[in-house]
Amino acid sequence: PVLVVDFGAQYAQLIARRVREAKVYSEIVPHSMPVSEMLAKDPAAIILSGGPSSVYAPDAPQIDAGMFTADVPVFGICYGFQAMAQALGGTVAKTGNREYGGTPLHARREAGVLLRDLPDDLPVWMSHGDCVTEAPQGFTVTAESAGAPVAAFEDLAGRRAGVQFHPEVGHTAHGQEMLTRFLYDIAGIEPTWTPENIIDEQVARIREQVGDKEVICGLSGGVDSAVAAALVHEAVGDQLTCVFVDHGLLRAGEAEQVEKDYVAATGIKLKVVDAQERFLGALAGVTDPEQKRKIIGREFIRVFEAAAREIAAHGDVEFLVQGTLYPDVVESGGGTGTANIKSHHNVGGLPEDLKFALVEPLRTLFKDEVRALGLQLGLPEAMVWRHPFPGPGLAIRIIGAVDRERLDLLRKADLIAREELTAAGLDRGVWQFPVVLLADVRSVGVQGDGRSYGHPVVLRPVSSEDAMTADWSRLPYEVVARISTRITNEVAEVNRVVLDVTSKPPGTIEWE
Ligand code: XMP
Repeated sequence: PVLVVDFGAQYAQLIARRVREAKVYSEIVPHSMPVSEMLAKDPAAIILSGGPSSVYAPDAPQIDAGMFTADVPVFGICYGFQAMAQALGGTVAKTGNREYGGTPLHARREAGVLLRDLPDDLPVWMSHGDCVTEAPQGFTVTAESAGAPVAAFEDLAGRRAGVQFHPEVGHTAHGQEMLTRFLYDIAGIEPTWTPENIIDEQVARIREQVGDKEVICGLSGGVDSAVAAALVHEAVGDQLTCVFVDHGLLRAGEAEQVEKDYVAATGIKLKVVDAQERFLGALAGVTDPEQKRKIIGREFIRVFEAAAREIAAHGDVEFLVQGTLYPDVVESGGGTGTANIKSHHNVGGLPEDLKFALVEPLRTLFKDEVRALGLQLGLPEAMVWRHPFPGPGLAIRIIGAVDRERLDLLRKADLIAREELTAAGLDRGVWQFPVVLLADVRSVGVQGDGRSYGHPVVLRPVSSEDAMTADWSRLPYEVVARISTRITNEVAEVNRVVLDVTSKPPGTIEWE
């Protein structure tokens, strides 16, 4: 792998993703990992990420010089660039001259490999106080900026390079190209991390893990569990049974999509459990968001366990498939080792004492890679590009108590919003589009010749990369207008449509 050493800023994940986009496998490791351990992973290259420290701070993370005596290509970014310069005998100075945000970079004539044939002046993303004033011996300085006399350097013989700016962010022009050039042209790595290869590798691993045992997988209808199950099916065929729990809190057409499209595309054995009565009974009269979540989590476990027992009657089920993704693993401080980091993620809360071993074929993957695998595995596009949908479903999009009538009403409004978004060709431009029913709020309206006293519906379209942060989507007004007109015309109980213009933070994406 290419190791991305995390110095504690939020950039390591982004760098790891960009490396994967260049079709090279990457893993994030903490800076506290001893160099001997990093080298034991036989890295194709090491990338030192940015970080919040000054290399002068007393507790600043240091780089063990052993990294540079090993014959491994190294690329330093921002803090990693300075730490590398310092470790190799260059000079880092506190200039007090901060550069932050978009900054012009000037490439020198002898622009080396990273900046070769790129424009002499490039906008790049900077975020630094200290700067490198003298490159270490053997390095050529290839660029400068107003606040950084050494903004990029290379030592081709030693297969090392570094940049003061952040090539991984979109604001840096040609940033991806620079990263790619480091990987291919300086480190000499071949781009082999492709969906086909990932599938082959995972299928072999799953076969090895599972042998001839039975496997179950809880399908949520979302892309992660769908792709995980399809991979396992590819590996062990009918040893896999999927369980889909219809809790009555789904959107229009969802259960059908899983039952028909998914089975048609994959041929997977599917057990659909109709648990609507059970969930709606347990939720009756409950308005507190946390309570709703707890009730749903609990009922999920019961239904799922019962289904597993029925399947187990035909043989021993020993394995449970989960769609855990790499960001979940990284955020839980994991990386390698035990599997039980996020057992709550996909099946709505599995108990600790569940007697299954986990199969998590997406554990090393990012969302965009999972989507690419899904397409490669022949899943329908509509499934692969589906917006995320929370496990507790529409229950946390009805502000107030949940009942069938309110659910039906919200389903109608939600379907209209989705139809219009799709018709406008905006499905991929919007990351997620909750529609929320303010069931306990009423407002006065005028419809036809009469007074109405109905409920408002909130549109909450957001853009995001990973749901940790989000911004409200600037949907074209015509699209918003069409959704509003259709909802108030077609859903009798709704006489007002409002648009949520809050980013996250401070708002969350869902209202509950
Ligand atoms: P928030 O509302 O916290 O949501 O900004 C972030 C993302 O997580 C989804 N979400 C959930 N997904 N179970 C899930 O599987 C849950 O309980 C849950 N709550 C929120 C939400 O839809 C958004 O994509």
